[in-house]
Amino acid sequence: MNVPASFLPVFEAGTVWLVGAGPGDPGLMTLTAAHALQAADVVVHDALIDPRVLGLARPDAILENAGKRGHRPSPRQADISELLVTHARAGRRVLRLKGGDPFIFGRGHEEALALAEAGIRFRIVPGVSSGLGSLALHGIPATSRDSNHAVILATGHLAEDKSLDWASLARTGQPIVLYMAVANLEPIAAALGRGGLAPDTAVIAVHGATTPAEAVIETTLGALPGLGAAGRIRSPAIIAIGAIAPLRAAIASFLIAPEVQA
Ligand SMILES: C[S@@+](CC[C@H](N)C(=O)[O-])C[C@H]1O[C@@H](n2cnc3c(N)ncnc32)[C@H](O)[C@@H]1O
Repeated sequence: MNVPASFLPVFEAGTVWLVGAGPGDPGLMTLTAAHALQAADVVVHDALIDPRVLGLARPDAILENAGKRGHRPSPRQADISELLVTHARAGRRVLRLKGGDPFIFGRGHEEALALAEAGIRFRIVPGVSSGLGSLALHGIPATSRDSNHAVILATGHLAEDKSLDWASLARTGQPIVLYMAVANLEPIAAALGRGGLAPDTAVIAVHGATTPAEAVIETTLGALPGLGAAGRIRSPAIIAIGAIAPLRAAIASFLIAPEVQA
């Protein structure tokens, strides 16, 4: 494919690009993200970035893993921001590569703030967020005229946090798409139940979307915590709860998609 150079922005030395890499499959990256990988002097990436994506980096680029490394603790957010600033001040083209979209549960805004405070110019390149992409790939529409006119994207990693009122989310009657929820399925399901969601509410989980470990699990709200406890639903996973979850059934037979695990 010949992409006219005029379609792609120039990656200036001393700037940082905050780029979304999508859910894993390099084919789901934007042209600008692929261009950034070819141009960057330094790639500071999250742990979840697919090795196939990192393989597109310039062979002489410095690769820095800013995610969890083995049993060592994750670097602090302030240290990651500092790393970006240091590389940019050294005159490098710095690619901060994040899974999905950098501004959806990706701390992209925190890093942009740190760069702005340090006087470093940056560009933001959106990506296919796993919450929407993982579902669409399997024929699950985030919205459909006949089922919902809104959709809630929520993080489940703060299940006990009072700032997220799960029962109120349930009362909206709108589908909920959960990121980072696998460790908290029991309290989340209980709170959604208190908000009125029935135990037979449809749920679909997509684990490791677009990776070799991909699995799709169809279940109900009542059975969800048990599947999590039994290791049948593992991280990273996107979990869709409500009216959109069963919609794939009507189109599944013609959908070209990976195998579905029962
Ligand atoms: C820190 S959040 C980052 C979200 C990212 N910024 C996005 O827009 O997709 C990490 C969570 O994204 C979800 N996730 C990321 N990649 C995924 C994949 N390939 N399949 C399923 N879920 C994924 C999981 O819920 C995981 O816990």
